[in-house]
Amino acid sequence: MTHTPLDPSLAASLTSIEAHFAARRSVRRFTSAPVPRALIEQLVSLAITAPSASNKQPWRFIVVRDPTVIRAMASAVRSEIEHILGHMDPLGVEAFRSYGEYFTRFEHAPCVIAPAYRATPILSQLVLPSLAADSRARIERMEHQSAQVSTALALENLLLAAPSLGLGASALTGPLVAANALAARLELPASWELLALVAVGYPDEEPKKTERKAATHVLRWIGGDQES
Ligand SMILES: Cc1cc2nc3c(=O)[nH]c(=O)nc-3n(C[C@H](O)[C@H](O)[C@H](O)COP(=O)(O)O)c2cc1C
Repeated sequence: MTHTPLDPSLAASLTSIEAHFAARRSVRRFTSAPVPRALIEQLVSLAITAPSASNKQPWRFIVVRDPTVIRAMASAVRSEIEHILGHMDPLGVEAFRSYGEYFTRFEHAPCVIAPAYRATPILSQLVLPSLAADSRARIERMEHQSAQVSTALALENLLLAAPSLGLGASALTGPLVAANALAARLELPASWELLALVAVGYPDEEPKKTERKAATHVLRWIGGDQES
């Protein structure tokens, strides 16, 4: 097996990409210092350099810095957790109580950003009623996923950019158990969906590195080219 040695400048930039990726950790504890509006604008400017399907940029970022609103959002999530607990197999209650704690870890952040997305129904608007329902459903799913994936890429950009701006951040989808209540709080129009909440602030912790499965564990090769 022959390996082409990496060009030294490429190797150096890979090392710096690695260091940059490693600098991203989910930060869930923040100082009480407010995050200036200009910094949030900078963060979102970096987020939206992400690619998007057909360059539709199907995203919006709703910013909440009012602690009363953030607390009300956490309270809506907590109510939904209680509601779910009321319908849970007793065996799961304790585990879900502690897992559910993670759904409100945005509560004390000085800033919460809520990325939202909206599907662009291009293809689904063009097909005729003669198209079978399952094909139509796949098209609609594709359009939905295109918007969701695009916005998730912007979210990852945001998470990766935060440490360079001196900020910490953590994505949360747990709160989406109360997505309807959150959408109402965030005055989200009906055609938009929440992707996640992102807690943002100046870090008051240095989270430990989390483990990852080896690439060989998550790779699946199709065909006969496994060896080179
Ligand atoms: C889609 C998504 C949803 C997440 N939801 C939550 C959440 O609801 N609450 C929470 O505390 N952390 C949440 N996290 C953070 C993960 O727990 C964290 O990314 C993971 O443990 C790896 O740690 P690291 O981000 O520091 O590498 C979420 C992360 C992602 C990507």
